[in-house]
Amino acid sequence: MAESITITDNRTGNSIEIPIVSGGVDAAAWRKLLPGIWFHDPGMATTAVTSSAVAEIDGETGILRYRGYPIEQLAEQSTFPEVAHLLIYGELPTQAELDEWVDLITHHTFIHENFRKRIYDAFHYDAHPMGLLTSGVAGLSTFYPEAKDIFDTENRRAQIVRLIAKMPTLAAAAYRFSRGLPFIFPDNANDYPTRFLKMMFDVGGEYEPDEALVRAMRVLFILHADHGQNCSTTATRVVGSSHADPYTAIAAGCAALYGPLHGGANEAVINMLTQIGSYEEVDSFIASVKRGGHRLMGFGHRVYKNYDPRAVIIKKAAHDVFGVIGKNPLLDIALKLEEVALADDYFISRRLYPNVDFYSGLIYQALGFPTNMFTVLFAIGRTPGWLAHWNEMIEQNSRIYRPRQVYTGSELRDYVPMEDR
Ligand code: CMC
Repeated sequence: MAESITITDNRTGNSIEIPIVSGGVDAAAWRKLLPGIWFHDPGMATTAVTSSAVAEIDGETGILRYRGYPIEQLAEQSTFPEVAHLLIYGELPTQAELDEWVDLITHHTFIHENFRKRIYDAFHYDAHPMGLLTSGVAGLSTFYPEAKDIFDTENRRAQIVRLIAKMPTLAAAAYRFSRGLPFIFPDNANDYPTRFLKMMFDVGGEYEPDEALVRAMRVLFILHADHGQNCSTTATRVVGSSHADPYTAIAAGCAALYGPLHGGANEAVINMLTQIGSYEEVDSFIASVKRGGHRLMGFGHRVYKNYDPRAVIIKKAAHDVFGVIGKNPLLDIALKLEEVALADDYFISRRLYPNVDFYSGLIYQALGFPTNMFTVLFAIGRTPGWLAHWNEMIEQNSRIYRPRQVYTGSELRDYVPMEDR
């Protein structure tokens, strides 16, 4: 059977055969046959905007792989800086490469004093930390004007290192500012997740996070590190495609992630579990979901029509964390909700399974993060993914994003003077 499709323009009888390559068809062939006739694809649900070698997602079977490596193996055996290297450069580093990479990241964690004293301090006392982070990342571009030279490979590498290194510092500074707590400088003696936890929670040099909590933080960062052409990655690419510097492009990623349809669902899960309130209320809550009263937050996914592989790993990590610091009382409600939903025909027939956000909020809450920091944690984890796609796009020398529209407005009409309206 031919691996192609044939399109016929019935107005003219002209046809064109387009080969199917790697599961896609080249829109340039369509354009040749039908100039000026655009695909109407809101949300780009059917459009592959690029070819990419970073992450593979198979929603039917519940597969997520970074550069070919299963997410389960990476979460179990790798570290976040190693995963960042893998995503950006395509290969697991040798020991020497990893040592150099970690050393670079460790020694670029500081942010300019002006950030804390002038930029963050200028915000209102109750500013959302995601607003501070987004502004902070955009502001970094003004401190590193050389970052505009995006076609210099070494220069790109320097900015990639800086961004991965400084995101936790910016994030923790945003949190400390919102609490009126003194800023804590990054401690180079610690690994990436420990350093972040200390910058967040240390008071008087006494905070030493338990090994299980550091492990959970590491796993959560790895699980969030990439997910193909999602909304924030696409935002990063759109801005990056105009050849803006990487800080500006990553700030666009942060801005897209801020929205509740993308980075905010884990917070919504906590609100939902709190609202349900007790184990006994689960059945009536599920009944109201089925009546269309509200959605079961943390369930369902545009791509995954099977168990989200990240949710399996997070569920296990949640048990590890609760084993150390005691159970989050909302866990029982979550477990019962999952059990009831997975046995119910409404959820089975619609192929609705727990997604990454169903259990992650419970862990974040148990670790002591306020809910408005959840999206910030997502942003730290996603930074290597955003950068990997940005770097890939620059290397591909891709074109500027410039989609078409189907115009549905008024026909030509003449300007009406004010007195005649
Ligand atoms: N609870 C109850 N019903 C649902 C849910 C849910 N969570 N999700 C989908 N449905 C139903 C929906 O009502 C529809 O039913 P019907 O065919 O009778 O109208 C059917 O399932 C298909 O839903 P859809 O809205 O067409 O699916 P979508 O692919 O457009 O939406 C989604 C995907 C993730 C937005 C949606 O499942 C949802 O709102 N889930 C809850 C929010 C959530 O957990 N979001 C986190 C996503 S994972 C994080 C990330 O990767 O960004």
